[in-house]
Amino acid sequence: MLAIIGGSGLTTLSNLDVSHREIVRTPYGEPSGAIVIGQIGGQPAMFLPRHGHGHTIAPHLVNYCANLWALHHHGATGIISVASVGGIRADLQPGEIVVPDQILDYTWGRQSTFCEISGAPVNHIDFTEPYDRELRRRIVAAAKTLGIPLKVDGVYAATQGPRLETAAEINRFERDGADLVGMTGMPEAALARELELPYAAINVIANHAAGRASSANGIHFESLEHVLRGAMSQVRAIIEKLVGEPGAGL
Ligand code: HPA
Repeated sequence: MLAIIGGSGLTTLSNLDVSHREIVRTPYGEPSGAIVIGQIGGQPAMFLPRHGHGHTIAPHLVNYCANLWALHHHGATGIISVASVGGIRADLQPGEIVVPDQILDYTWGRQSTFCEISGAPVNHIDFTEPYDRELRRRIVAAAKTLGIPLKVDGVYAATQGPRLETAAEINRFERDGADLVGMTGMPEAALARELELPYAAINVIANHAAGRASSANGIHFESLEHVLRGAMSQVRAIIEKLVGEPGAGL
């Protein structure tokens, strides 16, 4: 069964026909909220809002270990992470959707591995390709069938937040090779790999990154909502298509 982790702009999944909600206890503490379980287009799926049902959990305070453990424990066989991001690369315009293929991790102080509990075996996961190739392919194919344009490559820079970046930080990320910037992509992707759960991301460009284009003089996060609303309805359509495909449960 596919699990969808929703971020800003996707706090509920309106096309999920909810059958029940599960509060899961984990060895890592509380997940962001109850897992919402149901069907999308007649196929089973589950949803977890990363920032909590009331959107009150900041990116650095999300209990990524508990979230991933809970979804895995509940039968998730793959994870689609949805998150809004800032666009660094010049061609990435607000409202566009990107399926990133690489990650740079600038986060700190987050519990970033299941190996932190003493006694757990050390697990040196291969992370050369951080997103699952097959799941990315399915996302791209679903979008193509629907005629929804996607950017199919991009290096995602994960920042600590919750503040937005300085213009100089964005310049540094770009020199490092980053194309887009968000606050929640790590350690989520690495934890999914530790659990051997295929994981891919759908990122919506909410704004130009700090110091770039329309964000040259600042970013007003509240005004991004209308950009996200339009793009997230396309993301929902992609998810519905993908979940409804044969073998989508992986
Ligand atoms: N930076 C980091 N995270 C974000 C941004 C940004 O500009 N926009 C949306 N999430």
